[in-house]
Amino acid sequence: MHKKTHQNIQNWYQENGRLDLPWRNTSEAYYIYLSEVMLQQTQVKTVLDRYYIPFIERFPSLKLLGEAPLDDVLKMWEGLGYYNRAKNLHKTATLIDTLPNDIDELIKLPGIGKNTAHAVAAFAFNQPVPIMEANVKRILCRLQKIKTPNDKKLWELAYDLVDKVHPFNYNQAMMDIGATICLPRIPKCEICPLSDICKGQEEPTLYPTKKKRVVPTREENILIRVYDDKLALTQRKGKFLHGLWGFESMDIPPCASIYIGEITHAYTHFKLICKVYVYYENNPEQTDYFNEAEIQKLAISKVDDKIVKLFTKINP
Ligand code: ADE
Repeated sequence: MHKKTHQNIQNWYQENGRLDLPWRNTSEAYYIYLSEVMLQQTQVKTVLDRYYIPFIERFPSLKLLGEAPLDDVLKMWEGLGYYNRAKNLHKTATLIDTLPNDIDELIKLPGIGKNTAHAVAAFAFNQPVPIMEANVKRILCRLQKIKTPNDKKLWELAYDLVDKVHPFNYNQAMMDIGATICLPRIPKCEICPLSDICKGQEEPTLYPTKKKRVVPTREENILIRVYDDKLALTQRKGKFLHGLWGFESMDIPPCASIYIGEITHAYTHFKLICKVYVYYENNPEQTDYFNEAEIQKLAISKVDDKIVKLFTKINP
């Protein structure tokens, strides 16, 4: 089934695919797994420019990753966000040295859901299974004119369409087609290798129906305690950003503190606005103070990095 479409997709991929992505040129399951975890919530460009290769150089195998302290792993993940990904990756590495090739076994590992398990199975073990990713979902919806998709239906369609002979290239191609042809606003149906079987091409933008997402705003007051030109940072204990170093958040900053501006950060589920205050200590708190060079060695989140930058701008 779909023989002609599969041929079109393979031809398209050979001519237009991003064939040189490093995780497409390795058969090392750990490297592929790592790429899929990094790409879960992050764009290819970011992963490629700054994270994938340095991470592999620092932790060349699952075994070495598992033996490394979590703090070192978080440091290499710094700025990539969604730090639970790094923690789960590390946890998995402490449990196993070799990844299983079975989807049901993969799903049991920390941080590996249905999507990642399928991606690892297809890309690392060449299994004849489809992958599911945001761009691929859009393609599937358009093929079948689906306005409000549900997971079960999408997986059924994906399994029906997958090229079981060349699952690796097929799945990589589907992501590239989603990223470059089947675009959300103005898709290029006239050059799409799936146009023969696509039912949605008259009005592709109707599928799937766009959800208007209203993200709530959260406001926090952040206090930078300064003593002897050093800044106080503590290691977070709560659920959110656990293990990363950061500044104190408080309801009401001390009255002698100085407001220096605000920074914003967009998370998936909310927008964070931090009003930043500086307080020059006379009697330092029982906490750790760090200079600029020392802060650079800590794993801190994007938000706290923005706060440091704001501080350095006014205190060069
Ligand atoms: N996003 C998730 N997996 C990917 C891959 N293998 N190539 C490009 N983008 C991806």
